[in-house]
Amino acid sequence: MLKKTVHKDKKLLWISPFVVFLSPQPAQMQLYKSTRDLQKALRSEKSKKRRVGLVPTMGALHLGHLSLVKRSLYQNDITVVSIFVNPTQFNDENDLAAYPRMLEKDLILLSAEQGEIWVYAPQAEDIYDGNISSKKYDFNNLDQVMEGPNRPGHFNGVATIVERLLRITRPNHAYFGEKDYQQLLIISRVAKQMRLGVKIVGCAIIRESSGLAMSSRNQRLSPAAQSKATFIYQQLLWAKRRFTSMSLPKIKEAVITAFQNHPSFELEYFEINEALKLSAHQERIKNKKYRAFIAAKIDGVRLIDNLAMN
Ligand code: PAF
Repeated sequence: MLKKTVHKDKKLLWISPFVVFLSPQPAQMQLYKSTRDLQKALRSEKSKKRRVGLVPTMGALHLGHLSLVKRSLYQNDITVVSIFVNPTQFNDENDLAAYPRMLEKDLILLSAEQGEIWVYAPQAEDIYDGNISSKKYDFNNLDQVMEGPNRPGHFNGVATIVERLLRITRPNHAYFGEKDYQQLLIISRVAKQMRLGVKIVGCAIIRESSGLAMSSRNQRLSPAAQSKATFIYQQLLWAKRRFTSMSLPKIKEAVITAFQNHPSFELEYFEINEALKLSAHQERIKNKKYRAFIAAKIDGVRLIDNLAMN
């Protein structure tokens, strides 16, 4: 129960079965489990012209998520942090089952932030309104590379849940990390296409001091695997250093070989793609921005990372 784990100096006040108010400062936090209650409360705040920021998450929060939350707190009056492990974006049952879930710990982390945070943690039936399935979208080929072919159905699942979250909360801003860079481009396109009236804000990747990109999945790695996993970032940095002096196919070949020679990794892909359309080029085109992308498994845990090349 939430009650047992909240810091001692915070009072709990039950307002409805689905809304918990935690006080006093730092964070003024409310927990909503019901979509209807959240929407009702948001309508009332919006009628007072208060600005709403949305930070969609699947929980198991870390400093990367908190950087999105901080940015939203700075730019809005209310920050809605959704915590929902979305089943329709997983194409692997085991991955879905193993995904870390720790709502009480997440609430404690968020309660240390300064500002008004509303946590929205719905059940699948509720947020999906009884129909837990994905819509089909046209992503204009953004889904034809990298995560797309490797995780069939993934982006339709992501877009479906993000569209629902945006329609439920009608935020002024919504925040997404660049670690899921392909996801960020796809969501920006969906939000624009659907004319959802939201500004999608991309936020920089937050890294451990070792360089490992922060991810909820890192919690599933042993300390030894975490330390080996920094190899991913090292390879991205290596590619960046060679970006102007070596051809794109040669850089690709060298990085792929480095992964093949590493005893602990199973590389899914390494790509250097144009940064807006994600198209693959044999040669760099002047004035275009490029990014390198890696997905690799270590100890059965799938990690992704990316880095701007120019
Ligand atoms: O990036 C994530 O954690 C998820 O894909 C998101 C955007 C919360 C949708 O479930």
